[in-house]
Amino acid sequence: MNLARHLNHPVFHMIASVAEQEEIQVYVIGGFVRDLLLGGSDTTAKDIDIVVIGSGIAMAEKVRSSIDEDVPLTVFKNFGTAMLKWGDTAVEFVGARKESYRKDSRKPLVENGTLEDDQNRRDFTINALAISLNPDSFGELLDPFGGLEHLDEKLITTPLDPGNTFSDDPLRMLRGIRFATRLGFRIESGTLEAIGQYRERIRIVSQERITDELNKIMLTAQPDKGLLLLEETGLLEIIFPELFQMKGVEEVEGEFHKDNFLHTLKVLDNIAQKTDDLWLRWAALLHDIAKPRTKKFEPGTGWTFHGHEFLGAKMIPGIFRRLKLPLNEKMKYVQKLVQLHLRPIVLSQEIVTDSAVRRLIFDAGDDLEDLMTLCEADITSKNEKRVKRYMRNFQIVREKIVEIEEKDSIRNFQPPISGDDIQYVFGIPPSKPVGIIKDAIKDAILDGEIPNEFEAAYQKMLKEGSAMGLPVRHELRRGDH
Ligand code: CTP
Repeated sequence: MNLARHLNHPVFHMIASVAEQEEIQVYVIGGFVRDLLLGGSDTTAKDIDIVVIGSGIAMAEKVRSSIDEDVPLTVFKNFGTAMLKWGDTAVEFVGARKESYRKDSRKPLVENGTLEDDQNRRDFTINALAISLNPDSFGELLDPFGGLEHLDEKLITTPLDPGNTFSDDPLRMLRGIRFATRLGFRIESGTLEAIGQYRERIRIVSQERITDELNKIMLTAQPDKGLLLLEETGLLEIIFPELFQMKGVEEVEGEFHKDNFLHTLKVLDNIAQKTDDLWLRWAALLHDIAKPRTKKFEPGTGWTFHGHEFLGAKMIPGIFRRLKLPLNEKMKYVQKLVQLHLRPIVLSQEIVTDSAVRRLIFDAGDDLEDLMTLCEADITSKNEKRVKRYMRNFQIVREKIVEIEEKDSIRNFQPPISGDDIQYVFGIPPSKPVGIIKDAIKDAILDGEIPNEFEAAYQKMLKEGSAMGLPVRHELRRGDH
């Protein structure tokens, strides 16, 4: 098979002419070739991996000096690789290797090798496909392990014995699951079995790399498939015990609860159809994370998970820290959604009052739409009637939100009277009474007892202060504060 007409990027011709001059063999390999054969086009290529039978660094330097533009080159001496950044495209050069790994580390002992040695040491047959950039065979596909056939069969399998491939570099177990999930491929049975067998080796991989793969799985069109594979191979129990503990069904007095792991996967699948936002997807994955810890069987009532939304929100910083996910506003966002995830459902089960909607708008702020998306994804009942009823109620909640937003300005609401104002009027230092008065004003506004305006809030403050026996020390007018 000749693919020359697909090698449109100018860098391929640059490399080919340097290779011809220097009489060095050069190939393009890996994800670029895989994606090209899957129907992509090289004009959108962002990452191109080049393997050189010789020094990757020397080749990269020669290619750079043959380009007229000023293209930055980064050399990684320790790894024997070099990266050329040409516009949006990153071209990585590496010398062909024959590798053997030490048992206790991902860091290989490296020797120079042939193209076939190099293809052999790669993770999957579909990633070991190479295209020649040499003058006599420019564009020829080199496929010693049946990678092309496996692309056709939608199969993930390793060039070598899978045990060797995974034991050499255990991150590949996650990569395999990621490719299967992203491409909708099946993992060949021996390969899948080997992942189960070598799962403990994942412990030598850094958390950053593991989490990077997890995030990539989370961003695919069907992340639930990847999580199910992680569970089936035993990797989930090691890398994400809290999720693993959600698995299973218990029975007491003939009453079963649902399998919270499978429910979570369904919610994740639902939400993935609505949003590409990684953090909203994480919120879906974690929304019921505290169910195992709050689970109780109460005779007469059945299974309960009281307070799982609050405990779940509390568990999130620990999980984010361990997974090395960012401990910033993204984490706070996930916490907020987990904590609030039952609110719209509870609300829609009752008569939807203005004050309940106002409180929801106040608590969720700018994340209200995302919260509604999460709650809708959380409806996984097989009972169609029930699903319809929930969806109808959510629609009522959504309409009510719009109606109330038009009337009041509750979203990101700042009370018209601040703590400083209260201290000034009553001449008191920061203290408990200030908080009590502030909350009373906020509650009165959210309950619709008073409008969200200065004058009404001022009167409410005076009333609360007088009930607490606080004399007024200073007057305050609108605009003074
Ligand atoms: N590779 C490998 N083992 C790894 C990582 C990478 O064998 N643990 C090889 C594979 O041949 C892979 C190539 O290096 O195709 C490039 O790796 P990378 O850029 O991480 O992945 P891609 O396959 O290009 O896929 P994507 O960019 O879509 O993640």
